[in-house]
Amino acid sequence: MTLPTRAAPEPRKSAVSQPPEKGVAFASRIARFSAASSFCNPDLLTALESQQHFGKAANPNGLGHDYTVEITVTGPVHPDGMITNLAHVKKVLEEEVIGPLHCCFLNQDVEFFRTHLPTRENITAYLWNRIEPRLEPGVVLDRLTLTEGYDTIVTRRRKLPTMMEVTRRYDFCASHRLHSKDLSDEENKQVYGKCNHINGHGHNYELEVTVRGEPDPRLGTVIHGAQMDEIIHHTIIDRVDHRNFNMDIKELQDVIPTTENVVRFIWEALKPEFGSFPAKLHKIRLSETPRNHFEYTEENE
Ligand code: NI
Repeated sequence: MTLPTRAAPEPRKSAVSQPPEKGVAFASRIARFSAASSFCNPDLLTALESQQHFGKAANPNGLGHDYTVEITVTGPVHPDGMITNLAHVKKVLEEEVIGPLHCCFLNQDVEFFRTHLPTRENITAYLWNRIEPRLEPGVVLDRLTLTEGYDTIVTRRRKLPTMMEVTRRYDFCASHRLHSKDLSDEENKQVYGKCNHINGHGHNYELEVTVRGEPDPRLGTVIHGAQMDEIIHHTIIDRVDHRNFNMDIKELQDVIPTTENVVRFIWEALKPEFGSFPAKLHKIRLSETPRNHFEYTEENE
């Protein structure tokens, strides 16, 4: 990628490291932009390939999205109490994100996207390569997250520079009763409280499924969103939506359907489905209410 040549910022006069810290500090900043894009690019894909891989998004007239970019930096905390002055980070985001991308048609208005499809993964790589050299000396870009609309999130991490994580969000409703056969009725009430109510109760669950892999260099995607949706709907949503975990899900017959156990059931059901894909299942997150969520992974980085 061709990058604009810009002078790196001068080190701050107060940039003298404090004694080594026991932990690691991070600072994050968010920017938002809206942009249009199309996956119809005859120089990169045939019309049939565009249609097969991107469906309606291959419309040559484009479609629009709202994007949120979150960058997280790390480094020593300086005597002024900061890793970096967030006013500088804000300026970088204005100049490298909002300025070149907001209210643009990416395919035509941004040189990089004339030769790269404007996938979420390619936008993430583009932003990383624009933002990283503009940070103050000694400040490290640890991760960058791009959220498209509400339900798709792409993350790139410094420790895994060739990989990207793609997360998609899904909703479903289900009911359950938390009750152990090994406890007395009184003990069950003490342990599970209202969740032990004999007729059960329901939740609006929010499920996040994250896969991790290297983007295909030609398509610029880790996995097709539609492919991921098909797997998750077929394997999980169609089975659990408007169902009772205790009575309707055979894998949960002998376990108490706490969200810890449900999230593990979802992991074990989904993992083999991604066995033949270059992208592998990385993490499951399940929110039972807006105030709690549970995660399961076998790759605890
Ligand atoms: Ni509950």
